[in-house]
This record gives sequence, structure tokens and C-alpha cells, in this order.
Amino acid sequence: MASSRLKYLSLGVLVFQTTSLVLIMRYSRTLQAEGPRYLASSAVVVAEVMKIVICLMLVFKEHSYSVRAFNSILRQEIAYKPMETLKLAIPSGIYTLQNNLLYVALSNLDAATYQLTYQLKILTTALFSVFMLGRRLGVYQWLSLIILMAGVALVQWPSESPVVAEKASTPTGSQFVGVMAVLVACCSSGFAGVYFEKILKESKQSVWIRNIQLGMFCFVFGFVGMLSFDGDKVMESGMFQGYNAITVAVVTLQALGGLVIAAVIKYADNILKGFATSLSIILSTLISYFWLQDFDPTRYKRHSLQTYFAVATVQL
Ligand code: C5P
Repeated sequence: MASSRLKYLSLGVLVFQTTSLVLIMRYSRTLQAEGPRYLASSAVVVAEVMKIVICLMLVFKEHSYSVRAFNSILRQEIAYKPMETLKLAIPSGIYTLQNNLLYVALSNLDAATYQLTYQLKILTTALFSVFMLGRRLGVYQWLSLIILMAGVALVQWPSESPVVAEKASTPTGSQFVGVMAVLVACCSSGFAGVYFEKILKESKQSVWIRNIQLGMFCFVFGFVGMLSFDGDKVMESGMFQGYNAITVAVVTLQALGGLVIAAVIKYADNILKGFATSLSIILSTLISYFWLQDFDPTRYKRHSLQTYFAVATVQL
């Protein structure tokens, strides 16, 4: 009973987290006008630190708040098993790239287009599951994946509506760059997700310890990435330039996302994870339209429901 409650609780939090993250991220990168923009590379690093700290607290709690047991488990599982720890370097590098790409995507695409296109990760996840985990898909599931691809392609199809033409002349960024960023993120999401699942299923290790291992590498990669891409800006005005309450909300939601995904994999499963995130498409699309007035409703009407149904069928 308790685990079933945790299952629905983690799924509910995932819907809330995905919906609010995409809206606040988009708002923080485009609509917020005052002051300098925060560095996305710095936000990625801070979110990793937050995640590691929370995971350490969860491991501490799992060991009944005993400092000795806590020290010993960290030493045994992380320091004394360097090869096991090193396995997490692969998804970490990929997730760091992905987390940075999503900022690029949301600086160039509206929230709805981003969300719908990013659903292609269901296709990549399915393909990697088939090749890496030996999972089998039925005819209907393959069919749904094809419909999903068609739906996503249609979202990108140029519309002839005058509203769109007017919008296109005053874009916030480049649609092409945004779409490319999402497509690469879809491949990385599918591969890293399945790789993480494989590692989790091959051992009995606590998911929080795995997340600490993952976060450690993500932090190192993220930090190196921040210095390589924004090193001069960091030297000039520090890594927290442009931070405000909204940035803190983005970073907190990003960190919460990693933890919720880990919890969903533990208490529910990847199929329900996909369902929860696709439900959040509808929510963020509606909020984006009514609150941010940030996308073209013709495109939404034509394609998003179609894509949603394809997504839902894939979950079955
Ligand atoms: O979109 P997708 O489901 O691939 O997003 C995964 C996100 O969750 C990434 O931001 C990744 O850094 C994070 N994550 C995590 N811990 C895990 C798995 C994913 O922090 N165990």
C-alpha cells in the first residue's frame, strides 16, 4: 500500500515538475527582460550540487541517521568500487550535454513545440531498450511509434497562417538550432536512460547511491563545460551572475527532476514515467497558451492531440 502511494506520489510530482520546469525555463530564458541573463552552464552545475546534497541526505536517512554507517556505505560503495563508480561516467557525460542542450532548445523554441518534439525520446528509448536490454515491442507499439514520428514531423511543418508568418519575422531565436538541440537531446535521453536502467537492474545498489555517483561525474563534466564555454564570463562577473528568484526556481526544479525520475524508476516504471511526462505536455501547452500566449494555436489544434494519442498508445 505504502509503495503504491509512493508510486502515484512520485508520478504526480513528475507531472508537476516537468510542467513547471519547461514553463519557468522558457520564461527565464526569453520573456524575463531585466538584468543580464544567467549562465545556463552554471545552472546545470548548481542543480547537480543540489541533487548530490539531497541524495546524501536520503542515504543518511536510509542508514537511520548513523554517521558511522553513512561513512562506511559511501566508502564501500563509491570509493572502494572505482570500476562500478566509473560506469556512471558514461550517462553523466551524456546527461550533462543533454541538460545544456535543453537550455539551447528553450532559448530558441516555444514551450509547446519543444515539449512535443522532445517526445521523440520515447522512440529513441524504445529503440535503445530493444537493442541494449533485448526488450520486444508488439506491432501496435511499433505502429504507434511511427505515428508519433509523423506527429512530431507535422509540428515542425511550416504553417501558412499569417499569424505564423508574422511571428517568423520576429523570432526569439533560431527554430533550426532549437530543433537540432532537441533531436540530439532525444538521442542522449534514450541512450542514457536505458544505460542507467541497465546499471540499476544489474545490481542491487540503492538508487540514491547510484544518483550520487551519477551526480559526481555530472558535476565535474558540468564544471569543465562551464569553464570552457563561459570561462571568460565567469572570470568577469562570477558564476552566479544574473541569478534571481526565477533562476533559483529553475535550478531547484531541475534538481528535483533528477530525483523524481530516480524515484519513478524505483517505485513505478519507465512506462509510467513516459505517460506522466506526456500528460505534462497537455498541461504546459494549455498554460503556455493561456498564460504566456507563447505559441501558435493552429499548430496545437492540428497536431498536439494526435501526437498525444500516439504517445498514449505507445504506453499501452
Ligand atoms: O528527459 P529525460 O527523462 O532524459 O531527463 C532525464 C533528466 O533526469 C536529466 O536531467 C538527468 O540529469 C536527470 N537524471 C538524474 N538522475 C537519474 C536519471 C536522470 O538526475 N537517475
